[in-house]
Amino acid sequence: MEPIKISDNIFWVGAVDYDIRDFHGYLTPRGSTYNAYLIVKDNKITLIDTVKHGFEDELLSRVSKIVDPKRIDQVVSNHAEMDHSGGLPGILRHIGIEKPVLASTMGVKNLAGQFPSAGLNLQAVGPKLDVGGEDLVFMETRMIHWPDSMFSFLPSQGLLFSQDGFGMHLACPERFDDEIPEDVWGPLALNYFANILTPYTVQIGKLLEKVAADGLAAQIRTICPDHGFVWRRNPGRIIEIYAKWVQQKPRRKAVVVFDTMWHSTEYMARELTDFLAGQDIEASYHCLKNRHRSEVATECFEAAAIIIGTPTINNQLFPSVADFIAYVKSLKFKNKIGGAFGSHGWSGEGAKLVQAELRNMGYSVPADEVRVQWVPQEKDLGPLKALGQSIADEIKRL
Ligand SMILES: Cc1cc2nc3c(=O)[nH]c(=O)nc-3n(C[C@H](O)[C@H](O)[C@H](O)COP(=O)(O)O)c2cc1C
Ligand SMILES: [Fe+2]
Ligand SMILES: [Fe+2]
Repeated sequence: MEPIKISDNIFWVGAVDYDIRDFHGYLTPRGSTYNAYLIVKDNKITLIDTVKHGFEDELLSRVSKIVDPKRIDQVVSNHAEMDHSGGLPGILRHIGIEKPVLASTMGVKNLAGQFPSAGLNLQAVGPKLDVGGEDLVFMETRMIHWPDSMFSFLPSQGLLFSQDGFGMHLACPERFDDEIPEDVWGPLALNYFANILTPYTVQIGKLLEKVAADGLAAQIRTICPDHGFVWRRNPGRIIEIYAKWVQQKPRRKAVVVFDTMWHSTEYMARELTDFLAGQDIEASYHCLKNRHRSEVATECFEAAAIIIGTPTINNQLFPSVADFIAYVKSLKFKNKIGGAFGSHGWSGEGAKLVQAELRNMGYSVPADEVRVQWVPQEKDLGPLKALGQSIADEIKRL
């Protein structure tokens, strides 16, 4: 396997995972990459991040086309999550277990916790590190998206190693932004931001402001993330897109998401979707039987309203709906309107439980939940349309 040259002394030496589809509960329909980078100077060789466990040989094989991997002097870990650190023990065993692994203070703790018996020589980085006659400068990016996360910057080349930031899950042979059109990467970058970075938009917004204020943004000529491709033609484009996404500004769109056992809740979802579309709202319809939670979450990201439907099963929400609610709750969406509906037979707790969850998540909930007993009839359409109307009115007020 070949390395890919980024500049005279910097190479991509990561791994391409064409087959992965479940990335910690998030659907990756186009696989992913685990990017690692090698800084090669005559007197010092530095590896930036590693790969997921199982891909160590792929990394070592790429490195060996440049230098003997045993010549690597030091490893920088910008992010302790397993997709970038899982390969550390195996790679360090190969190159020399005594070689320093440099991470943020929290990175040292988190790596020690995840690899307690690997014998890694973990060291906390200072503000900068000599990488062979020049400095790699560190910037902590705590909670973007883990406590250990940090950026590394090589000023001489304006090159930012941004770990998960500015990445996306896309396995392909291309390695650079100028090789893939924006209509291909745009939806994947959104999918990644919505599912991985949404809970941290406040921190990311502050970081972007700091980077602009420090004059660093103007110095960035290349961004090397840990997933997806290297931004060498236009790194400003993804920074500009992130500056918009951190605002979580909703557009005139409502997501109707539900599950059903015997089609009654489904019938309600279809009526609601058609009603909203008739109100000039982009209405996006998703049954959780055939839509993955993370695909629906991406649909929700730019939507003004999320309307959730469930039948009642043994006094509870339908399990897939409970799963979806737990997931969107974890994403901490801001500026959302919520609505609840569902069919039941006797006790009818389902839609009420959804309504309580929506309030709990801080969504604006303009109307009571709509509950229908058994199969919806003509008379049930009035309350359903009233729910749709309240939500449409609130969306239009934005
Ligand atoms: C296994 C099972 C458990 C149920 N438990 C309840 C319940 O505890 N309370 C209730 O009101 N209805 C309960 N129902 C009735 C359903 O909520 C009712 O059939 C509803 O119309 C189903 O909506 P759906 O067609 O969207 O699945 C249950 C149905 C099934 C199949
Ligand atoms: Fe991560
Ligand atoms: Fe990652």
